[in-house]
Amino acid sequence: MIVITAPTGQIGHQTLTGLLDSGQPIRVIARDPARLSPQVRGRVEIVQGSHGDGDAVAEAFAGADSVLWLVPPNPQADNIEDYYLDLTRPACDAIKSQGVKRVVGVSSLGRAYGKPAGLLSPAFAVDELFESTGVNYRSLVMPFFMENLLGQIEAIKSQGMFLLANSADRPLATVATRDIAAAAADLLLDDSWSGQGSVPVIGPDALSPNGMADILSEVLERPVRFQQVSGEAYKTTMLRYGMTDGFAQGLVDMATAQNDGIYDAEQRTLQTAGPTGFRQWCQEVLKPALTA
Ligand SMILES: NC(=O)c1ccc[n+]([C@@H]2O[C@H](COP(=O)([O-])OP(=O)(O)OC[C@H]3O[C@@H](n4cnc5c(N)ncnc54)[C@H](OP(=O)(O)O)[C@@H]3O)[C@@H](O)[C@H]2O)c1
Repeated sequence: MIVITAPTGQIGHQTLTGLLDSGQPIRVIARDPARLSPQVRGRVEIVQGSHGDGDAVAEAFAGADSVLWLVPPNPQADNIEDYYLDLTRPACDAIKSQGVKRVVGVSSLGRAYGKPAGLLSPAFAVDELFESTGVNYRSLVMPFFMENLLGQIEAIKSQGMFLLANSADRPLATVATRDIAAAAADLLLDDSWSGQGSVPVIGPDALSPNGMADILSEVLERPVRFQQVSGEAYKTTMLRYGMTDGFAQGLVDMATAQNDGIYDAEQRTLQTAGPTGFRQWCQEVLKPALTA
């Protein structure tokens, strides 16, 4: 039995799609099962509830061989570390009580950085929490998701620009969520691994935000520019979107760590398995989303 958390989200949804024809029994935890497609609903077991709920996770983890664990981003969280850990503790209890064999977690590159890294730090704390249970654990570790740019699709469309607090000319490693989902599905189906470790999933490019803007301009056949904003201005914008001060500050501190090279130690190797390049992603995901 394979258990998928956050099955309606970017990674959970694509992982589930990749597993449906595997022949393995699949169970999902969903707050609102109506958000799953009818085809999916007919082919998986569903436990209704939040995967932060102890009863729901205990029910979902019963008899599970492997679990995909993901903490959903919560822009309403006042304290991001408390939020990540509070959501994960019931799962760690259920892993022990239900005898789950293997857990695949969604985390971030940069754990070796060793300094505060905003939104990335709680993901490392979650890794430590799972590791403390002794369960067989693989942490998928990724850089900046290409899909983050989908949140700026209106600005790209109407103003021909996107903005970040990241340095304009510093390479920012990226990954497409489809590649994360493929790596997750492989690990969830593979019953040969044990112990604890991390699996980097990194795209093939080393583009700066200015370099991404050049590719966006070529693919969309119209000028798109990158605008670097100060941490303070970025935070003000995020607060205007209704994020808590803690979450907005977490985004700023994450960009600071990225500008400081948090991803640099973990270079892409043939084992990092993120085949989708930024240009391909723009052609296959961003451009259709922009013209939809
Ligand atoms: N973005 C990046 O650059 C980046 C980089 C490295 C790592 N990460 C990590 O990637 C993860 C995000 O993955 P993703 O993009 O696949 O997530 P996502 O698309 O935001 O999906 C999260 C899903 O979780 C559900 N959800 C939301 N709030 C919830 C709550 N309080 N309790 C239970 N379920 C909830 C939602 O589905 P329903 O509304 O249907 O319940 C949502 O579809 C985070 O852990 C983040 O730290 C992100």
